[in-house]
Amino acid sequence: MGYLSRSLGILTALIFVTATMAVAEERDPLKPRVPPDQIAEAKALKNPIPKTPENLAKGKALFEGKGTCFNCHGKEGKGDGPAGQILNPSPRNFTNCKFHKKRKDGELFWVIKNGSPGTGMVSLIPAAITEEEAWTIINYERSFCKEGTE
Ligand code: HEC
Repeated sequence: MGYLSRSLGILTALIFVTATMAVAEERDPLKPRVPPDQIAEAKALKNPIPKTPENLAKGKALFEGKGTCFNCHGKEGKGDGPAGQILNPSPRNFTNCKFHKKRKDGELFWVIKNGSPGTGMVSLIPAAITEEEAWTIINYERSFCKEGTE
C-alpha cells in the first residue's frame, strides 16, 4: 500500500508540473507581425491622433469599453485579461517597454486592422472600432510602458 500511495503521489506531482508547463506564453513579442512585403508601408504610417491627456482618456475608455481590448489584454495591459488567460499564444503584455521600442505605431495599427494570423488577435477594424479609434487606443497602449518610448 505504501508503494502505491507513493506512486500516486509522484504521479500527481507529475500531472501538476505538466499542467503548469502548459500555461500559455506570449509568442516572441519582439518579432514583427506585419508580413515583409507590407512592413515598410506599415512603418511609414503616422498616427494622426495627438497624445493629449484628453485623447489618452478617450483611448482608455475605448480600451476598457467599446474596443473590448481589456478582455484579453487586461485592464493593466499585462496580457492577463479574463479571456486572455485561456489563449495560446497569450495576448501582448503592453507593460513591456522593449516591445514598444521595436514597433512603430503603424505596425500596431496593421495588426488591429488585419489581426495576427493563428492567434486570438482577430481583425477589429471595422468589427469593433473605427480607424481613428484604433489610433487613439494605440496612444493609450503605449502609456502602459512606464519608461517612455520616444
Ligand atoms: C480575443 C482576445 C483579444 C482581444 C479582444 C484583443 N486582443 Fe490584441 N492581442 C491578442 C493576442 C492573443 C495577441 C498576441 C498575438 C501574437 O502574438 O501575434 C494580441 C496582440 C495585440 C497587439 C500586438 C501586435 C504586435 O505587433 O505584436 C496589439 C497592438 C493589439 N493586440 C491590440 C489590441 C487592441 C487595440 C484591441 C482592442 C481594440 C485588442 N488588441 C483586443 C488578443 C486580443
